Amino acid sequence: MTVEHDVKNLELATGGRYRIEWAEQEMPVLRAIRERFAREKPLEGVRVSACLHVTTETANLMHTLQMGGADVVLCASNPLSTQDDVAASLVSHYEIPVYAIKGEDNDTYYDHLKAALDHKPHVTMDDGADLVGTIHKSRRELLDEIIGGTEETTTGVIRLRAMANDGALAFPVVAVNDSDTKHLFDNRYGTGQSTLDGVIRATNILLAGRTVVVAGYGWCSRGIANRADGLGANVIVTEIDPLKALEAVMDGFRVMPMIEAAAVGDIFITATGDINVLDTNHFEKMKNGAIVCNSGHFNVEINLKGLAEISKGEPQRVRPFVEEYLVNGNSIYVLGEGRLINLAAAEGHPASVMDMSFANQALGAEFMVKNASNMTPGVYVVPEDIDKEIARLKLEAMGVKIDTLTAQQERYLAQWEEGT
Ligand code: ADE
Repeated sequence: MTVEHDVKNLELATGGRYRIEWAEQEMPVLRAIRERFAREKPLEGVRVSACLHVTTETANLMHTLQMGGADVVLCASNPLSTQDDVAASLVSHYEIPVYAIKGEDNDTYYDHLKAALDHKPHVTMDDGADLVGTIHKSRRELLDEIIGGTEETTTGVIRLRAMANDGALAFPVVAVNDSDTKHLFDNRYGTGQSTLDGVIRATNILLAGRTVVVAGYGWCSRGIANRADGLGANVIVTEIDPLKALEAVMDGFRVMPMIEAAAVGDIFITATGDINVLDTNHFEKMKNGAIVCNSGHFNVEINLKGLAEISKGEPQRVRPFVEEYLVNGNSIYVLGEGRLINLAAAEGHPASVMDMSFANQALGAEFMVKNASNMTPGVYVVPEDIDKEIARLKLEAMGVKIDTLTAQQERYLAQWEEGT
């Protein structure tokens, strides 16, 4: 009997399975955790509701939790990020209930979230805090059985900390994003590469010689700026934080207010986590042919409503994931409906980097199950020893060896008397 699901087409499952296994080859740390989980069953009987991008990498995480004994269900964390073949394979081959269809409308998105919550989770696993938000707003009866949660992304962690500051958060959540083995790699190298992959797959444009404006200089935007630079683009960074702006300047990028960048940019990429970073005053200044897209978690960074209001006629779809708006006689092209372009038009971060992010998720869930009874509601980081162990396992899998301190060096670091 097939498990409960709402996916596009179960006939896509075979292709999905090949792709899931392809990704698995690049995820040695998660594979090692899966082998241990299969032996030790640390999640036996634990109901997990996960709201994540439904990708080949996520499938490998779900399988790992399942091997650890968890009873898992999965829904999408974004209407445009689902890989339908993966969703089909998870249902058909792994017997994991999935509620996710690429291109689903907002109502379906929330229906899917509700279906995942009907599983009555002990542990929530979020990417963007939509499960936690929905539970606290409209499904409070579930709080009785929830022991804790995990959160994948910067935006989600910001929301959770706001809830905790308001005294609203009712259970402990592990902020996976705060691990060094997550944000230093996934946000920087993962978002850097996959965002440009999304822009290129959607448009097939040459980046060399173009002016790319990157909004923000956090870990994600740094990665984007660096990779755009590597492809020969002239990169402009916009920031509101003086420290980050200074870093961008010293990294060799031009820094200016968005209103000035708007007039000179060819491609605009937002990754700030805030709303209306590209607004009508910016669209009005843009050159004919400007391309705008977003790589932040929510589709709020580009004011699409404002853009529709100032543009002539209806937007025209000119290629998959490319819509043309006419503003003052100029064409402005919006990619992926303003949703995260790396998952809308490409496949998200490569498996090799998700290996570490999802190792943190798996070990974060295990940590929660072991320790929740001693934890009060709040936002927690993955313990440093777990973070370091993930880095160690990744290096080992890559065949990279490092030095260890000699006894003399350890003694030197522990004392304070010795100087020049
Ligand atoms: N977030 C960014 N890339 C991802 C991927 N490949 N899978 C799941 N979540 C992601």
